[in-house]
Amino acid sequence: MLDKTKIIPGLSPDSAVVHGYEGHDSRTGAVSFPIYQTSTYLNPGLGSNIEHSYTRCSNPTRSELENTIALLENGVAGFAFTTGLAAVLASFSLMKAGDHVVMSDDIYGGTYRLIEEIWKRYNVEFDYVDVGNPEAVEACMKSNTKMIFIETPTNPMMKVADIAAISKIAKAHGALLAVDNTFLTPYFQKPIDLGADIVIHSGTKYLAGHHDTMAGLLVVADEKLAERIGLILRTEGSGLAPFDSWLVLRGIKTLALRMKRHEENAIKVAAWLKTNKNVDKIYFVGDLENPSYKISKRQSSGFGGMISFTLKDVTKVEKVLCGCRMIMFAESLGGTETLITYPITQTHASIPKEIREKIGITDRLLRLSVGIEDADDIIADLASVLD
Ligand SMILES: Cc1ncc(COP(=O)(O)O)c(C=O)c1O
Repeated sequence: MLDKTKIIPGLSPDSAVVHGYEGHDSRTGAVSFPIYQTSTYLNPGLGSNIEHSYTRCSNPTRSELENTIALLENGVAGFAFTTGLAAVLASFSLMKAGDHVVMSDDIYGGTYRLIEEIWKRYNVEFDYVDVGNPEAVEACMKSNTKMIFIETPTNPMMKVADIAAISKIAKAHGALLAVDNTFLTPYFQKPIDLGADIVIHSGTKYLAGHHDTMAGLLVVADEKLAERIGLILRTEGSGLAPFDSWLVLRGIKTLALRMKRHEENAIKVAAWLKTNKNVDKIYFVGDLENPSYKISKRQSSGFGGMISFTLKDVTKVEKVLCGCRMIMFAESLGGTETLITYPITQTHASIPKEIREKIGITDRLLRLSVGIEDADDIIADLASVLD
């Protein structure tokens, strides 16, 4: 649980990411928080109350990361998991047989697979709905609905859900609201301030930020939830290792700089794509014509760096994916390098074709995670394969 006395009060968001929770190691004075590469800890005496006893349960490097993300998300406690999906799984583990969960219909394919291939076996019911439409969410609620789980903006169609409106629906029905905040990070969006109970991240993405590690983070808004999630992490053994915790901590130090640059570049790239004769449609939250622009302006302080777009001609897909010199054709997002992804064969391959097509994930859709290179180089690379 966060000890507020350890936090430097009044820091701006740009300074808060640099200094994290303790920021330095109070045991040694080390300015770079150390990697406590140990599985166990000396017990000074029978019956003594020690902070850390076994790394599956807790580790100082992981705790610094957990407290840092809790602080940035304005929650009461944070938890660091081996992957983003392990964090999603921990939120599902709050459910029991007979419970019902309302999900975004446009979600990361791995989350969809987790539900369809594993969780449905446990007699937990899931319904998918367009969370951009609060009336549709309300219509899905049942007496056994225990959680609404949303991604906003959604992956890959960039639809934005009104977090405050959905939180009201969840509260009226006694359900939890979990928000996957991977695309915007707490630098641009703080779901707990808008009424969410749980915030989830694939820390693999913007938080770590360099395409060099996997991580998942989960933040809760109240102490009872913190106890339940803590028990799941310790008991299932899904906590993040010390070295990976340190990589994410180091990534977070530059989060403000990187998010601003990702966004600045994405605005330029989206504007350029919009005028390209071979591009049919773009999906970018920061595009004035995007139906989610207004709500996004109201609830977030930035648009992020993710753009999806469709090509007019499907035969050009391969050249765009494989022909760039700098932009890499690879899964994942949120790192320093610009990546281009083909959702139907990569991130969203596990979603059945008819459902994908209903949402708009077609064979002409590409997803771009705009990196922090020079925007002109990104545009030149795209021009070389599109024009
Ligand atoms: C929005 C979102 N949530 C969760 C995940 C899962 O994260 P991980 O790959 O770290 O398990 C991803 C992965 O791409 C994602 O895009």
